[in-house]
Amino acid sequence: MTILVSGGTSTLGSALCSYFVSRGDRVLCTYHRSEKQAFDLAASLGPLLVPIAMDLQDSDSIEKAVAAIEGLDALVNNSGIFTEEMFEELGLDQWRKVFSVNVEGLFLLCKACAPLLTASGGSIVNIASINALHPGFGKTVHYDASKGAVISFTQSLASELAPHVRVNAVAPGLIASSALDSEHPLRRRYEKRALLNRLVDPVEVAKVVALLCDCQAMTGQTVVVDSGYLAG
Ligand SMILES: NC(=O)c1ccc[n+]([C@@H]2O[C@H](COP(=O)([O-])OP(=O)(O)OC[C@H]3O[C@@H](n4cnc5c(N)ncnc54)[C@H](OP(=O)(O)O)[C@@H]3O)[C@@H](O)[C@H]2O)c1
Repeated sequence: MTILVSGGTSTLGSALCSYFVSRGDRVLCTYHRSEKQAFDLAASLGPLLVPIAMDLQDSDSIEKAVAAIEGLDALVNNSGIFTEEMFEELGLDQWRKVFSVNVEGLFLLCKACAPLLTASGGSIVNIASINALHPGFGKTVHYDASKGAVISFTQSLASELAPHVRVNAVAPGLIASSALDSEHPLRRRYEKRALLNRLVDPVEVAKVVALLCDCQAMTGQTVVVDSGYLAG
């Protein structure tokens, strides 16, 4: 398969790229500011990893990058911006910045890739968040609303593109990263409520994304991967 992963050098993005390459997939890994990390990743994963520059806030950049792609089996919309602002301090600029990447950029990339995916009978996987289903962590109304939009967009697009292209989403819980050491208050709060008392390993999310790329019977779904946080 040839799979485009947006934001392929992020915590989750690099796990997605590594997992797909380990299966023998060819991965088109997009980067915006992280050019060096993208080429470092290519150096470590080998020729199946192809770095591509793309700014999701620039429609010309998206169209130019996609025009150079010859065939595509799956698109994973992983790029996303997370910021924290109290509602009282949240300005329209910050709201628009989050929506411009998390929703508009995702929309533009789906639109640009749709003809390639229709030709291949491929699929789209959008990365949402449990924040869309359990809003109220605090200081994230703009992020929560953007991820809610990703889930409704996923369901609606699945219906429009069927039966040619399947469209699903994954809603991860808090993903383990070097920034969240064992004493981090957010990590402790999360582990306390999650039924499995743990964060989510990015490779576990990657495996679910791969399942959604492969399973021809799934479309319009949002799969939660959260170590039981929402059920806790
Ligand atoms: N981390 C979590 O706990 C968690 C939980 C639930 C959901 N998620 C979602 O999972 C996805 C990945 O999260 P993460 O924590 O791995 O991300 P991250 O480390 O915060 O990195 C953000 C990614 O978005 C890309 N990006 C930002 N602005 C962009 C733009 N204008 N154009 C193109 N790409 C842009 C960045 O690319 P460059 O670095 O190249 O600029 C980077 O790859 C996001 O959608 C996030 O909302 C994360």
